[in-house]
Amino acid sequence: MNRILALRLHTNLAPQPRRTRTLTLFRPAQQIPLKPEYAQEEGLSALRSQYKAVRSVTCSLTANMSAEDQMVQSCPEASPMKWHQAHTTWFFETFVLHPFLPDYKPFHQDFRWLFNSYYNALGSQIPEKRIRASLSRPSLDQILDFRAYVDRAMETLLGGRIDNEAARLIILGLNHEQQHQELMLTDIKHAFFVNLLHPAYDDGSFVDEPNISAPELVWHDFSGGLLEIGYQPDARNSLDFCFDNETPRHRVYLEPFQIASRDVTCREYLEFMLDDAYSRAEFWLSEGWETVSHLRWEAPLYWERDATDETGWRVFTLRGWHPLSALLDTPVCHVSYFEADAFARWRGCRLPTEAEWEIAASGKTLAGNLLDTGKLHPAATKSSGIEQMFGDCWEWTASAYSAYPGYKPLPGPLSEYNGKFMSSQMILRGGSCVTPASHVRPTYRNFFQPATRWQFTGIRLASASNS
Ligand SMILES: [Fe+2]
Repeated sequence: MNRILALRLHTNLAPQPRRTRTLTLFRPAQQIPLKPEYAQEEGLSALRSQYKAVRSVTCSLTANMSAEDQMVQSCPEASPMKWHQAHTTWFFETFVLHPFLPDYKPFHQDFRWLFNSYYNALGSQIPEKRIRASLSRPSLDQILDFRAYVDRAMETLLGGRIDNEAARLIILGLNHEQQHQELMLTDIKHAFFVNLLHPAYDDGSFVDEPNISAPELVWHDFSGGLLEIGYQPDARNSLDFCFDNETPRHRVYLEPFQIASRDVTCREYLEFMLDDAYSRAEFWLSEGWETVSHLRWEAPLYWERDATDETGWRVFTLRGWHPLSALLDTPVCHVSYFEADAFARWRGCRLPTEAEWEIAASGKTLAGNLLDTGKLHPAATKSSGIEQMFGDCWEWTASAYSAYPGYKPLPGPLSEYNGKFMSSQMILRGGSCVTPASHVRPTYRNFFQPATRWQFTGIRLASASNS
């Protein structure tokens, strides 16, 4: 029904009204407590509910997308929505059903290699990422059948006793799918931006409080010293989850530092642009200056010149175009590490290290403008505490992505999940407006190459402490 409706809507070229998205599907995963013993019925029941909840979010995110929408791969970083749907299902088939469900028969032999993203240990036949949009076959219907087939097998598996290793891999698979849910939204945003008709992913305005003004930026002092960062697994719960790259918890020494009360706003970033900062080499790292010059960047991704707005700009969002003047107090997003670093230099500041960020975030309530709010875009804050740490934008840090002291990757093929990417990438923290709320933690380490802009990436400033 959803797809029939979506197909009908897309037969006209003019923007058509879309159904209001129900957000109830976003919520259940975070409300189900993890249980330590999945051999017990109570624990299995919670895991079953969690599985259904996460998988249903993927369905809800694609509900208004046509088969054609789900084929598009508009930049090298992105993947088609259809591929995301298949690959997340492949993950459960490969890492859970094959090893743990007796007599499991794969949905299709070719899917075993076709939807492998990058796991060399599973075989040398891995399709190149850049050709994912050429997969008109299998059809979307076949992909949806694949999802249903795997869901039924997972139901069978979860209908009996399972050991903790299987439960751990299911939880990893759910976290993996949540990562791809965020990617589905960032990728379709880019696809619709590139599309000459610039369709909106969802209706409505996210400017729910248009008159809100961001408070003055306030500096918060931290005394530094010998501190601990990294995830400390709960020893009483063998199924407590974090990614391997968040461990082990370890000591770091920090000089006293200050961190900004909120993200940098579009208004502040516009001042940076109006000061010709994109043309002044003194603010830029060498590689950043080369990138800016080569790609002729003059604004964040998704900003376009618009003479009809008083700012001279408009911004493409998941809800279509908005004048920049309506977004001036919202956090600037879709900037690269190079732009974040240059902005900080222009302001006489710097970016926080990931350790500083984590110390500032630890103890804060894990809440914010995440996917569950349904806003789908960064929002202004009203307060001057340490705000917007979770949600709104992933915040670039000054830290390169590398292993913590004593880091051990997961065993087997899943050792390739995080560890092999520890070069030439920078750490980002805090999640974004399209990160599922149950997916983020103060210790969560995201990472991207420094020129990356298609994710919801923003800026928080830091500096040495005056005290
Ligand atoms: Fe993946």
